[in-house]
Amino acid sequence: MHSLEKLLARNLGCSRVEAQRLLAGEAGKVPAEVPPETLPLCVTLAGRQILLHDSFHLMLHKPSGCVTALADGRHAVAATYVTKAPLAAELRPVGRLDLDTTGLLLWTTDGAWLHRLTHPRTTVPRRYHAALARPHRAMPANLVLRDGHRPRVLDLRPLPESQVHPGLPRPPGAEAFAAITIAGGAYHEVRRIFASLGSHVLALCRVSFGALALPEDLEPGQWRPVNKAEVQPPPVPT
Ligand code: URA
Repeated sequence: MHSLEKLLARNLGCSRVEAQRLLAGEAGKVPAEVPPETLPLCVTLAGRQILLHDSFHLMLHKPSGCVTALADGRHAVAATYVTKAPLAAELRPVGRLDLDTTGLLLWTTDGAWLHRLTHPRTTVPRRYHAALARPHRAMPANLVLRDGHRPRVLDLRPLPESQVHPGLPRPPGAEAFAAITIAGGAYHEVRRIFASLGSHVLALCRVSFGALALPEDLEPGQWRPVNKAEVQPPPVPT
């Protein structure tokens, strides 16, 4: 059983004392304890409807110019955009996007799910649209990056400008656009792939993560809830 007071404090990001204050005067109208199977549960307190969750997942359209972190001494942080979400203090980003990369960044309160989605041996495909300084060379059969890393490139194709996702910034000097799908999330992986193919990434947007696609109408900085069933991580190979 969950204590209603604790659930309220977690969901609203307030202290237990503030939650107690909200509950005062509601005695007898709301249960003190909530069975886990009834969550998410809508309660009405002082005429205000509050949806209580035990876990929460969302996709953020990460804008350019913020790091994938909860706090940072130098840069703006992506966490700023999800402070109004339920259970905001418990949300963690699923993997990382670079400072200047835009696009789909998943957040969850479920640590075990996060671990499965980011496990180096799982293969959740990530698709990106890239603006390039020049067209890239063809992919060799066995691409090896300078540090020896072998990226798992599932798809790489030129992209007509008319098909570029609106979430990809259009920097001046972009001479080509490409769509690339990789299984994995190594450091600067997409930028390093294009560099090794003789090009240079001027802007990068993650347009999907597994089966989850970045909606074209989700503006940079906005988020929407995600149902866990929308992203099924493949089993970790043994
Ligand atoms: N690959 C990159 O190079 N940068 C990102 O932000 C994500 C993937």
